[in-house]
Amino acid sequence: MKKWLLLSLLVSMNPAFSSPSVEMLHWWTAGGEEKALSLIEKQFESLPYVLKSEPISGGGGAPAKAILQARAIAGYSPDIALMEGPAIQSWAALGFLNNVNEVAASHGWGQSLYPDIKAIHQYEGNYVAIPLNIHRLNWMWINKKVLNQHQLSSPQTWESLLSALTTLKGKGVNPLALGEDSWQVVQVFENIAFGVGGANYYREAFVDLDPDALNSDKTFEALNRFRSLANIVGSDLPNMSWDQGTKAMLEGEFAFQFTGDWALGEMLSAEGEIPDHIECRAFPSTEKGFIYNVDSLAFFTNVTGEDHNMTPVMTSLSSPQFLLDFSKKKGSIPAQANIPVSELSRCQRQSYQDYIHASSEGTAMPSLTDSMAVNPVLQNAVSNELYRYFMNSSISAETLIGHLHAINNEVFR
Ligand code: GAL
Repeated sequence: MKKWLLLSLLVSMNPAFSSPSVEMLHWWTAGGEEKALSLIEKQFESLPYVLKSEPISGGGGAPAKAILQARAIAGYSPDIALMEGPAIQSWAALGFLNNVNEVAASHGWGQSLYPDIKAIHQYEGNYVAIPLNIHRLNWMWINKKVLNQHQLSSPQTWESLLSALTTLKGKGVNPLALGEDSWQVVQVFENIAFGVGGANYYREAFVDLDPDALNSDKTFEALNRFRSLANIVGSDLPNMSWDQGTKAMLEGEFAFQFTGDWALGEMLSAEGEIPDHIECRAFPSTEKGFIYNVDSLAFFTNVTGEDHNMTPVMTSLSSPQFLLDFSKKKGSIPAQANIPVSELSRCQRQSYQDYIHASSEGTAMPSLTDSMAVNPVLQNAVSNELYRYFMNSSISAETLIGHLHAINNEVFR
């Protein structure tokens, strides 16, 4: 058979060749994240498109977000991008995003989305992205085997946590799985700040950047605690991604990890269930609360031509069954209310109860570090300052607070 004939036959038989591809840019490169992503890919099977995954590694997505911006400026944005928080509205304001009002109508988002989440996904009255899930950030992941070996119990207060970390370090045990990424480090600060001051303080200081709240004793106390932790783990942090940290904690190389429940997705992916020796406990706090972020998918207008009707796939990506299945892999809870969570793991069921409670009490707070609280420029500026403070013990709390005021007063608003 002639070569060209064979080739055209192959092309017509293989959907990967014959179907146009739809590109999705994201930062899901860890085991649990990839499993969750494969569920999104599956939704495309019923369509004449193939999902082309474009992963840019880097926990929290900073490199992926930078590449997304560069591509959009250069005029070749992807069709779909993973997004979080206020950035969704910025992209919509620039005219890059398709509205997803049809999806919202078919899944009754008016009733089924939690109020905070609904607000993030709207711009000028239109829905402009699809919320998939809610991750909790103020978790401690604890390897109980390691604690038991050293006659320690799970800490419930900041003081007992600090004492457990100090004891472990004194015995030559690695206390905390924390890599050198700024994203990993600064997340811990928001847990500490919430723990010191509760929801109202957290909102005033790290969502509104209110000068009085930033100048308060609570900020000094939070910074002192952050410094105590730095003194224990040292500034020479390992070059370890968050998922390497989770695996190492799981295997007993570290006693604790403080990060969001994407760590749970990693454990579920590696072990099929949460191992008995792993405990999930809310980070110590004077007030119960929930620091969250939401993974959302935004659909870009410029590449997706008229004949790319993606409404069916968008609709399936927002169905309650899909959201539940997705969270089973991702370690999160579904982004829509009224989805039964009895099939989720014990930590996710706790997360769900705590979220419902926090959201009714007004103590569910958006994560600053994970792009939910303020615009990306402010987020990066504040995160950089906090990271420098952690890594460099010669920076005083006064100096740091002065820098936060400057950020707040200047060009970043
Ligand atoms: C977060 C994102 C999660 C997660 C994590 C680690 O920003 O919301 O889905 O995977 O980054 O990369």
